[in-house]
Amino acid sequence: MVIVMAPDATSDNIDSLVTLVSAAGGEAYVTRGVSRTIIGLVGDVQRLSNLDLRAQPGVSDVLRISAPYKLVSRENHVSRSVVRVRDVPIGGDHMTVIAGPCAVETPEQTLESARMAADAGAALLRGGAYKPRTSPYAFQGLGEEGLKILAETREETGMPIVTEVVDAGDVEVVASYADMLQVGTRNMQNFALLQAVGEAGLPVLLKRGMNATIEEWLMAAEYIAQRGNLDIVLCERGIRTFEKATRNTLDISAVPVAQELSHLPVIVDPSHSGGKRNLVLPLSRAAIAAGADGIIVDVHPTPETALCDGPQALVEEDLAELRDVAGTLSTLMGRDLT
Ligand code: E4P
Ligand code: PEP
Repeated sequence: MVIVMAPDATSDNIDSLVTLVSAAGGEAYVTRGVSRTIIGLVGDVQRLSNLDLRAQPGVSDVLRISAPYKLVSRENHVSRSVVRVRDVPIGGDHMTVIAGPCAVETPEQTLESARMAADAGAALLRGGAYKPRTSPYAFQGLGEEGLKILAETREETGMPIVTEVVDAGDVEVVASYADMLQVGTRNMQNFALLQAVGEAGLPVLLKRGMNATIEEWLMAAEYIAQRGNLDIVLCERGIRTFEKATRNTLDISAVPVAQELSHLPVIVDPSHSGGKRNLVLPLSRAAIAAGADGIIVDVHPTPETALCDGPQALVEEDLAELRDVAGTLSTLMGRDLT
């Protein structure tokens, strides 16, 4: 069982619950997050249920869920959640496009990419300042300098920014510039990082590990939620299979499956999954038609000079079609392009 405390619950409320649970022979594990406190309970479910915990002062909810991912499970949370990044909604009846460069390289390249993203119908700007690279000799990102460029670009365009954090020690600095923190595929099971972003007070975009099952992905989300942050968006970005024609295999069925198991919004990355420009539009169509709550797409003004993932970046000529795909298919799916 899990107790979710109300945001205004006091320390006395929490202490009284711990005492109540202990007196009933149970154990209570308290996790104090930025916006709310979560108490995990271990013990005899029947005895704990008799305590009428829901009626205790400061309690917002009590969850009795069989899944190992309790806070993000849909079992006890029938309606699907909407996560807001500043004023941009993800989930519900919305279709949200996030676009931008894979990596922040220069102020000009970032601003031009933001202009391209907006032309493609994007409401949020993506861009990596800390890049998780396979090779230690590959471009690792500009670090804080890149975050400053993103913040300047937000100033000029008004687009909120989504950017990746790769190390728990960097969460504070990245959160001081970002509007949404991204945890990438390579870090999906970096538990210290998940806990740190759970405490950062910003929405989180959690990509599926390329070798992770859907259940493992949801348990990774639970690490974030357990620190008091339920503003999590799941992102299917392709998994490793025997197929070599694509960079990864987009697991399109993960969209309805994750939506059935969890109340969190689910978006798709057609760029990192396919790894090729000519696959991005077909995979975007597939994602929206499968019911995804959004897509996250790489764009670049000059992909031939890109320092990371140029071959998968959309170019100027693709933007109108992406906008059309997102607009037309969203309407057919009963969603509004935000
Ligand atoms: C991009 O965002 C990632 O950092 C990139 O896909 C890493 O891949 P690579 O380092 O194998 O090129
Ligand atoms: C990215 O979106 O910049 C990225 C690194 O993606 P992934 O973690 O899916 O490879």
